[in-house]
Amino acid sequence: MYKPAITGTGVFTPDNVITNAELVTAFNAYVDLFNAKNAEAISAGTVAAKEYSSEEFIVKASGIEQRHVIDKTGVLDPSVMHPLLRQREDDEPSLMAEMGVDAAAKALAQAGRTAADVDLVICAASNMERAYPAVAIEIQQLLGIEGFAFDMNVACSSATFGIQAAADMVRSGSIRSALVINPEICSAHLEWRDRDCHFIFGDVATATLIERADAAQGAHFEILSTRCATEFSNNIRNNNGYLRRSRPAGMVDRRDMQFMQNGRKVFKEVLPMVSEHIAAHMQSNGVEADDLRRLWLHQANKTMNDFIGRKVLGRTPAPEEQPNILQDYANTSSAGSIIAFSKYSDDLADGDAGLICSFGAGYSVGSVLVRRRA
Ligand code: COA
Repeated sequence: MYKPAITGTGVFTPDNVITNAELVTAFNAYVDLFNAKNAEAISAGTVAAKEYSSEEFIVKASGIEQRHVIDKTGVLDPSVMHPLLRQREDDEPSLMAEMGVDAAAKALAQAGRTAADVDLVICAASNMERAYPAVAIEIQQLLGIEGFAFDMNVACSSATFGIQAAADMVRSGSIRSALVINPEICSAHLEWRDRDCHFIFGDVATATLIERADAAQGAHFEILSTRCATEFSNNIRNNNGYLRRSRPAGMVDRRDMQFMQNGRKVFKEVLPMVSEHIAAHMQSNGVEADDLRRLWLHQANKTMNDFIGRKVLGRTPAPEEQPNILQDYANTSSAGSIIAFSKYSDDLADGDAGLICSFGAGYSVGSVLVRRRA
């Protein structure tokens, strides 16, 4: 058996930024258009008037201040309200693959590795750009990796579930190393016309290289243990899928073809699930709260993370103990905890332990206990 380790991470960040101010201006212009267009039905009581969004609400409810997106022109056009992406030819790289390759190249460079050192690519994300061939196989080809590749979808928990799958294969010796890649184009599944959630998501791609600890070229994080859990829930759901065309009114622009959530219920149900999951994972590995130098949590909501941090450590964590990136990136689904890990882990000292945890739709929760080796 080999000891698996995280030896490199990389983040691809799209250049375009949408601030809360820009977002709210566009949304409120859309509201005016909608209400004017539906004035008659609104006054007849058959259509509900839409209400304005507000910057104050967004920051207070979520902690999000801005988000990076692949395209902002369509999102900020009140007559469009979704990203506008060009149609790519089948013989050019798909968008997810392009984002994933950028993040993967950074992870390989940090680890001092090349494509020749990698045996497996897992593309783990909330949405796949197409049904097949797997985006992971396309990334494998673009990077020039031999071996095999496959896609995984466990929504917001995709990264930690991917890390567990990769770490287990490294541990058993069936592979030398794996890239777990999380390209998230959340702007395309977000309903920008719904004020309850229009501020939630952003786009990004992350990559994590997992290899044998004894083969690491430099400072790295030993993977001490991983744990995944799922429990079915409809409170975060997207009904889009390949059966769409075959169903009555299947091709209509329906609200449930995008991300839907019952945010309050998610709060109430996911918080205890995650807190108990982390506590049990720590306990079965003999890890006490005082042993943890850092928590890299899923980046959905600041209040949620504050709550989990307090539960796990038994006190309010100092900001550096539980770094948030959601103020700059918003919720980037599976990539969020890996952005936090990638940006805020270099300063840990030899022997310091930490925990990566992602959670979300499914419900799903995955945690990875790591120890710094400098
Ligand atoms: N601007 C102004 N007011 C808004 C608004 C907006 N953009 N969106 C909602 N409101 C209003 C609501 O209509 C509601 O008004 P009411 O009290 O008169 O009914 C009030 O603000 C509170 O809305 P609510 O939806 O209960 O807010 P919240 O505090 O639950 O925050 C979320 C909303 C989405 C930020 C929060 O529920 C959340 O983060 N949930 C978990 C998210 C998560 O982790 N999801 C996983 C996705 S992978």
